[in-house]
Amino acid sequence: MPHYIAPSILSADFARLGEEIKAVDRAGADWIHVDVMDGHFVPNITFGPAVVAAIRPHTDLTIDVHLMISDPDAYIPAFAKAGADYICAHVETSGHLHRTVQLIKESGAKAGVVLNPATSLESLEWIVSDLDYVLLMSVNPGFGGQAFIDASIERIRRVKEKLVAKGSAALIQVDGGINPTTIAAVAQAGCDVFVAGSAIFGTDNYQKTIADLRRRIG
Ligand code: DX5
Ligand code: ZN
Repeated sequence: MPHYIAPSILSADFARLGEEIKAVDRAGADWIHVDVMDGHFVPNITFGPAVVAAIRPHTDLTIDVHLMISDPDAYIPAFAKAGADYICAHVETSGHLHRTVQLIKESGAKAGVVLNPATSLESLEWIVSDLDYVLLMSVNPGFGGQAFIDASIERIRRVKEKLVAKGSAALIQVDGGINPTTIAAVAQAGCDVFVAGSAIFGTDNYQKTIADLRRRIG
């Protein structure tokens, strides 16, 4: 299975967003990860659909929108229309998760669900066969640059087992604290899509950093 590196623009220079996206595209990134925060589900505020529409012409890479918002259904069509290829919503926010996943698909995007670090993996049981990807948070959502939560490794393993048991082709994405020190264990546990914000945008040579991360995936 191929592996994908997804720089999170949360750690990019917002005043130069278009250039930053072109730079990670040229440097060998696979996806662009967009962290959408509403100041309600998480204690921070970031981007809306207009920002996704603004960055869309700057890259042909997959744009992956991670919704950390209390009412994902209200905004999913707008993010899809703005050019998001993949959209995921937190299981903790949606009282009607099946409806949320169908709405993402009807809007024309690939669908994922996200689990916070302490959310039971059982919440995937009845939705997993409808998913294109599962995002496991390895930090508490809201901010870049936090330390990787070690228990995430066992969670990745268990989700991988679940997907194999169900015959699901859904990708496993991991988000938070991924850097040259943590990425190998994340890869070995079964991750397919590696989100990295500060580990990429915090360095001055994106190409070298992405190549280094990729080498450590093995
Ligand atoms: C956190 C976001 C992450 C964040 C990761 O709420 O979902 O995507 O940008 O940042 P790093 O890679 O710095 O931990
Ligand atoms: Zn994210």
